[in-house]
Formats: sequence, structure tokens, C-alpha cells
Amino acid sequence: MKLRKNVAVIGAQWGDEGKGKLVDLLCEEFDVVARYQGGHNAGHTVKFADQHFALRLIPSGIIHRDKLCLLGNGMVIDPEALLDEIERLRAAGIVIEENLKISDAAHVILPYHRALDLAREEAAGLARIGTTGRGIGPAYESKVARYGIRVADLLDPEVLKHKIEFACAEKNPVLQIVYGRETFDPAQLYDAYLKYGEVLAERITNGTVLINDQIRAGKRVMFEGAQGMMLDIDHGTYPFVTSSNTIVGGVCTGLGVAPKHIHEVIGVAKAYTTRVGGGAFPTELNDEQGEHLRSRGNEFGTVTGRPRRCGWLDLPVVRTAAMLNGIDTIALTKLDVLDEFEEIPVCVEYNVHGEKWKTFPAFAVAHDDYKPVYRTFKGWKQSTVGITSFDDLPQAAKDYIKFIEDETEAKASIISTGPRREETIVRD
Ligand code: GDP
Ligand code: IMO
Ligand code: MG
Repeated sequence: MKLRKNVAVIGAQWGDEGKGKLVDLLCEEFDVVARYQGGHNAGHTVKFADQHFALRLIPSGIIHRDKLCLLGNGMVIDPEALLDEIERLRAAGIVIEENLKISDAAHVILPYHRALDLAREEAAGLARIGTTGRGIGPAYESKVARYGIRVADLLDPEVLKHKIEFACAEKNPVLQIVYGRETFDPAQLYDAYLKYGEVLAERITNGTVLINDQIRAGKRVMFEGAQGMMLDIDHGTYPFVTSSNTIVGGVCTGLGVAPKHIHEVIGVAKAYTTRVGGGAFPTELNDEQGEHLRSRGNEFGTVTGRPRRCGWLDLPVVRTAAMLNGIDTIALTKLDVLDEFEEIPVCVEYNVHGEKWKTFPAFAVAHDDYKPVYRTFKGWKQSTVGITSFDDLPQAAKDYIKFIEDETEAKASIISTGPRREETIVRD
């Protein structure tokens, strides 16, 4: 499969589509792998042979030697989590030296962000978002409020001290009075975060200049999305979303890369649908079929271990992702998880007051005012696990894939039939 020069790998549903597997599979011919948004709310799994890695902040390309990996300015970074991840990967034999760089303009997650995230979730009761509790939302809030601490600030003792004191003066009363939580000592935070700055200093750089220099030098870049289109702060199922732009537009702002340098978009979509946390999920199955998807698909969060909610494929979701991201190619993952079903329903459109919706009717869904319309496919009832050639797939599976291609107007050039790198069909 010939990919164009710079390629974005984007989640086309609610996250956990298999982006990590795809980046790992495809990045061999690339020079740079860059994350442009999110933080350690992401959990990207890479498996091959008997190896198994879970990436959170670090681009999945790090598994491959000699790929330059960049944490872009659009990310929110918890230095403790980053150092943990570096240690974990090193212990597994991964080389992390000058191949990992951090944008000086990325924002830092501090412990009060995490505490606020947890406190709010608890206070919200049934209305809770179901966040990963990593402080992602509050860190992006600080950024947008223009009082956030950026990675560069970790290298400037005076600025860091002032910013931490300023933040604590506001966050501590909120934590204590509004939520009855513990407060943070600014002096202790300052000491700890100044140290993180010292440890990370050699990795901190002007990420925008770095990536544009690489592009100018003719290097190939892979942009690794985190989360999925339906969790996008603007285009997802607000408020049950994450706090960043997960769609391809986020590449431009989250790395400082012009649109003309993004040459191809791969949308990663599961052959069914999952979601973690709260919010609408029209094709969700709360029965033994959902349970079957969960157990056969091992649908438990990479980060939090939470059971993922499971349901049938929602084509309006994938069509919306194709529209928002300009998806050229679909990577259809976890086809093998459907192997044992007698019948496989797919949501083909929504009926909203007699009107057909081919894209996801977010407002109608938020107001519980919609009806998913299903078409049922015959199951193939045989194992596709590990199949590597399209011709070897059962006819019913081929029909299912063809229907998805026709309905999304994107070719499924990659079909994943197992968690491992080797368990993949790559079509010409
Ligand atoms: P990401 O966040 O998009 O990178 O996806 P995750 O890694 O969080 O979740 C995808 C899960 O499905 C991981 O456990 C993968 O190892 C697994 N996986 C990926 N592709 C396949 C596949 O084709 N079949 C099966 N059975 N598992 C897969
Ligand atoms: P990857 O990159 C699936 C979900 C959370 C919650 C909402 C907000 O592995 O696909 P946050 O902590 O971001 O404020 O939580 O977003 N969420 C994800 N769901 N995959 C992810 O990442 C996710 N990152 C966040 O469950 O519903
Ligand atoms: Mg994941």
C-alpha cells in the first residue's frame, strides 16, 4: 500500500479504534511521528509477536528505532506521567534518547487540575462525564483562560514560581470551599515542577520549528490522533467529550503545521462501536450481544481498565468522521470480533421526525429525539482471526466491508483481524 507523504491517523468513532496498532503498522517508512492533542487520557496499544506496549503520551512510533517522536503544542502533559512512561518503555527495551522531543508551548497538567477533574466528576453525580480523571479538562481550561503553565515555563524559575502561586491562590479555595478537598502547597509544587523541568530540559524545544524543519527537509511525518471524532470538543457529543480538537484540523493548531502538509487521512474505525464514559450511544447493546462484543473484543480501557460500552456499527458516526476529516482511507479494525454473530445489524441512518439523517444528528440525540434505522447483515460464523489476505475472508465479511465502503465513500484499504501487527490485511 502506497501512502502519500505526510499522513494523519485519526479515530473515527469514540476512541480506542486501534490507532496505536495502525501507527505502529504504518510508521516504518516515516521519519517523524507527532501527537497534536490530548494527554495521558489516551491509551494506544501496540502488539506484535509476544510484545505488548501501552502508549499514553508518547507517540506509538517510539517503538520503532530512529523515529523522531514529538509531543506537540496542542497537548497537555503531566510530567510525572511522562517520566513514568519513559521509564516503563525503557524497562521494556525501548530506546528513548534524542528521539523524543516536547514542544515548549504544550501545556502542563498540575496536581490541582487532576484534583479538580476528580472533584467535579464526583460532584456532578449522574451528570458526570466519566472522564479519565487525569486533569485533562481543567488543564485545557487553564490554557484557554490564558493562565496555564507551559512546558517552557518549567525552565524559567521566576515565571514558574509566579504562575504556580497565582494558580494556587485560585484553585485552592475552589478545591477547599466548593468541593471540600485538600489544597496544594505552592512551594512544594514549585520544587517538584522545577525538577521536572530540569529532567526534561534536553527534550524541550520549539516543536513548531522542529516539525516544519523536518517537513522542509523532505522527511515524512505521521500525525497520531488521540481519542476520536465523537470526542472532539466542537464536533463531538458535547458535553460528553474531551477538551481538545481530535479531528484533523487539530493537526494544524496542535503542531503548527499548515494544511498543505497533510497529504492523506486514515480514519480508524472499529467494525462495531465502543465508548467509555457517559453520553449518548444510540447503537449501544445492553444485552448479551454487547457482553459478547466486550469479552471477545477485550473491551476494557487501556488507561482506566473500565469496561467499554459496546454496540453495533453506527454509519452516521463514521460518515460524519469522513466528512470532518476528509478521510481518504478507512482502517477497519476488529473485524474478527464479529466472527460469531448470526446476524450483524448496522445503523445506516437516523430518523428525526420523519427526516432521514445520514450524518450523526447530535442535537436530536442529545435530546433523545431520534430513531436509529438498522440494516441487518448475515454473519459469517467462521474465524477471520489473523487473516492477512482479503481473498481469504468469508463472502459475508466481504459484503459487510463493501457496504461500509459504499456508505462512507472511502476505501477500507486496511482491515485488522487481530490485535497484533501481523494480523492485518493491507489491500493495494
Ligand atoms: P487506540 O486508543 O485507538 O490506540 O485503541 P486501544 O489500543 O485503546 O484499543 C484497541 C484495542 O483493540 C487494543 O486492545 C488492541 O490491542 C485491540 N485491537 C486492535 N485491533 C484489533 C483487531 O483487529 N482485533 C482484535 N481482536 N483486537 C484488536
Ligand atoms: P484513545 O486515544 C476512549 C473519554 C473519557 C470520557 C471523555 C472525557 O485511547 O482513543 P477526559 O479524561 O479526556 O476529559 O475524558 O473522553 N476518553 C476516551 N475514550 N479513548 C480515549 O483515548 C479517550 N480519552 C478520553 O472516557 O468519556
Ligand atoms: Mg485507547
